[in-house]
Amino acid sequence: MRLEDRVIVVTGGAGTIGRQVCLLLADEGASVAVTDVSADPLEELLEELRKSQGAAWGRPADVTSLEDFSAFASQTRRELGPIDALVNVAGSFAIVDFVDSDPDQWEAMLSANLLTAMVGCRVVLPEMLEAGAGSIVNFASTAGEYGSIRPSAAYAAAKAGVIGFTKSLAREVSPRGVRVNAISPGPIDTPALQAQSEEQRAVAASRTLLGRMGTPRDIAQGVAYLASDESSFVTGTVLQVNGGSLL
Ligand SMILES: NC(=O)c1ccc[n+]([C@@H]2O[C@H](COP(=O)([O-])OP(=O)(O)OC[C@H]3O[C@@H](n4cnc5c(N)ncnc54)[C@H](O)[C@@H]3O)[C@@H](O)[C@H]2O)c1
Repeated sequence: MRLEDRVIVVTGGAGTIGRQVCLLLADEGASVAVTDVSADPLEELLEELRKSQGAAWGRPADVTSLEDFSAFASQTRRELGPIDALVNVAGSFAIVDFVDSDPDQWEAMLSANLLTAMVGCRVVLPEMLEAGAGSIVNFASTAGEYGSIRPSAAYAAAKAGVIGFTKSLAREVSPRGVRVNAISPGPIDTPALQAQSEEQRAVAASRTLLGRMGTPRDIAQGVAYLASDESSFVTGTVLQVNGGSLL
């Protein structure tokens, strides 16, 4: 129950990893406010969350829209109280050969992966700065650290942007009590990887020192650490949860 009495907002919570993040945070006692653009999986998740320890509420919102997400955050404060932590899971991945890509495709990738992090932070930070406390967890990727193995340059550029953004924002706001970190998942057993051939999956697993792909729960554990006081001296960092695949 290391997150008892905490109000935590999770964006992109209805996706594969976001779902496990929400369930673990709720198991640890947090009150979870969850949003996603995908309405049906969000409703299913909320039903499950309501059976857990903490309070939970949510509704669809588009986190690329400052107006939409501001309204969501205001409603969260009314439903659950002041926001203690924000977890920006929202993102999107696409395989596109660079020579087939165009500015619209780049804009969509940057929007889903980088603008969502910006909007999330922009909306919750004034309240956190006033309180002199708060924890923000952005979602990067190994693709943003050392380039994408599959052709997805726009995704890698967006995730590299998330890392630069996270470190810069930490420099700006951590002296006023708000911690800002990123988590960088390696290959995780999610539909994006399940769509690959058996051989490609084996190669992905063999690139890790631990010889397996990660699970959404592995990522959720990292998020819970960064959101909790266990990481009270940690800011501006990128927590690599990748089975050692970057060594
Ligand atoms: N799956 C992996 O192996 C892996 C590896 C590295 C990083 N990541 C990152 O982890 C995060 C979660 O990945 P996942 O595999 O669970 O993906 P996912 O597609 O299952 O989940 C992402 C969720 O974000 C939501 N979303 C997208 N744009 C949104 C917006 N504008 N507003 C609100 N919600 C929005 C989607 O509807 C979806 O439910 C992503 O940021 C992804 O880039 C995943």
